[in-house]
Amino acid sequence: MGNSAMDIAVESSYVAKDTYLAARRGAWIVPKYLLGRPSDQLKNDPRVPFKVRQWFIHKLIQSQVGDLTRYGLPKPDHKFGEAHPTVSGRILDRIQHGRITPKPNIRRLDGRFVEFEDGSRVEADVVVYCTGYKITFPFFDEGFISAPDNHIELFRRVFHPALPDLMFIGLLQPLGAIMPLAEAQGQWLADYLKGEYALPPRAELEADVRADQEAMRKRYVASKRHTIQVDFDDYLFELDKERRAGAQRARERGFALPVPARAARPDEAVAA
Ligand SMILES: NC(=O)c1ccc[n+]([C@@H]2O[C@H](COP(=O)([O-])OP(=O)(O)OC[C@H]3O[C@@H](n4cnc5c(N)ncnc54)[C@H](OP(=O)(O)O)[C@@H]3O)[C@@H](O)[C@H]2O)c1
Repeated sequence: MGNSAMDIAVESSYVAKDTYLAARRGAWIVPKYLLGRPSDQLKNDPRVPFKVRQWFIHKLIQSQVGDLTRYGLPKPDHKFGEAHPTVSGRILDRIQHGRITPKPNIRRLDGRFVEFEDGSRVEADVVVYCTGYKITFPFFDEGFISAPDNHIELFRRVFHPALPDLMFIGLLQPLGAIMPLAEAQGQWLADYLKGEYALPPRAELEADVRADQEAMRKRYVASKRHTIQVDFDDYLFELDKERRAGAQRARERGFALPVPARAARPDEAVAA
């Protein structure tokens, strides 16, 4: 029920004889446009409490899309905003035209047949798994850094609390485009590399990371797809605040450049 599934099912529905959309959980389908604007560009003020914004958007989407079970889709088991949003302007239309048939999850594959949880079977040429990200870093030793079950604990999704010379850009999942957030992260990182931004002490970084993980766990449906989640406007707002706080810390420290954290190799120690 994610965005890949929507896009691929819709495209397939124009060329395949039959297309089936199998899911283990329902999702809210956000139309591409709401109130005449791209839906990710609706006004969303981070200073308004999340619950209030959630209520408003939930009602707006409900009023546009209606009861999803009328399209044969499963009823979402959560409110809007408690799962990464699924945006599609065409999926409901293609289902209503009989070009895509919703199905429950796949129970098993049996030769050329696919059997679903309700016992129904179809013959299929292709099964496309749109099951989301699996975060790996093939260029790092797993013992050095890894993301088991997609969990990776980073300060504001950029800095590793224990490795101040390792940063990640764009390793986050917003509603809306990643690029403006990656650009803001890049500017923040540039401040740091120039010594114009200083990180908080490690204990504070770790506490912030723990609070972030806990908030994500409380808000979102338990799934490997909800480990790097951010709200677009809230993230930019908080990043800007943190950038200014870190600039003040850097001023107090006399704009010192960050110290590389890498331990000296044995040969370097001898040379020293
Ligand atoms: N047009 C676009 O802008 C566009 C297009 C494609 C993708 N994207 C982005 O790319 C990222 C990845 O998207 P995605 O759609 O590939 O993945 P995704 O959003 O993580 O969705 C994965 C889906 O697969 C289901 N799933 C995972 N494991 C499963 C299993 N073992 N059995 C049954 N269902 C399973 C999940 O269900 P549960 O909820 O139950 O875990 C969820 O419905 C997202 O950030 C998305 O927004 C954007």
